[in-house]
Amino acid sequence: MHGEADTSPSDKRTLWFVTQNHHKYQEARRALDPFGITILMLSSPKTEIQSTSLGEIARFAAEEAAKKHNRTVLVEDSGLFVKALNGFPGSFSSYVYATIGVGGLLRLMGRQTRREAYFQASLALVSPRGSSVEFSGKVHGTLSHKSAGVQGFGFDPIFVPRGARKTFAQGGAEFKDKYSHRAIAFRKLALWYIGTKI
Ligand code: IMP
Repeated sequence: MHGEADTSPSDKRTLWFVTQNHHKYQEARRALDPFGITILMLSSPKTEIQSTSLGEIARFAAEEAAKKHNRTVLVEDSGLFVKALNGFPGSFSSYVYATIGVGGLLRLMGRQTRREAYFQASLALVSPRGSSVEFSGKVHGTLSHKSAGVQGFGFDPIFVPRGARKTFAQGGAEFKDKYSHRAIAFRKLALWYIGTKI
C-alpha cells in the first residue's frame, strides 16, 4: 500500500470508509481521532458476498469499491457469534437482525444457560491497484436474558462485554469504545497506518 493511492500531503491522514451505517462510522471516527486520522464516510452501496469469513466479505466489497471510486477505501464487516448456536448468526448477523431482530435471537436462546458470545469486526483497506491489508477485533461477553438500554445499534441491547455488568446499549459511547470489537480493529489499523504512511 505504501504511498500508492494517496498522493497529496493533505490526504495522508484521511481514510474513506465505505458504509451506510452511521453508528459504525461514528465508532470508527472516535477510534481514529486520537491518532490524528480523519475518516470520511463514503455512503455507497456495496456487494455483500455470502461467506462465513468476515474478512473475505470485507475484502471483496473493498476491492469492488476501490475500483469503482478509484481511491483507497476501507470496508468493515462484523457479526455476533453465539456459542450455544454454534457461531450463528456470525456473518449473517445483519440479515438476522433485519428479519427476527433482537427479540428473535432471545427467543432462539430461550432459557439456555450457556450464553457466551463474541462480536468480531474485520477491516479491509484496499487500493485501486488491488493491494490490501486486513485487521480484526473481537470482544467476548454474554447475552443478557432481556433487552436493556437504548444506545447504539443492532444487538447492542443484549450484549454484555466480559468484565462489565451492563449491555453496550446501556453503557453509551465511552463504554462501547472501551470494549468493542470495532474499536480494537480500528486501533490496530491506526497503529499500522501511522507507522506506514508518515
Ligand atoms: P454488516 O457488517 O453490515 O454485515 O452488519 C453486521 C451486523 O452485525 C449488524 O447489522 C448488527 O446486527 C451486528 N453487529 C455488528 N457489530 C455490532 C455492534 O457493534 N453492535 C451491535 N450489533 C452489531
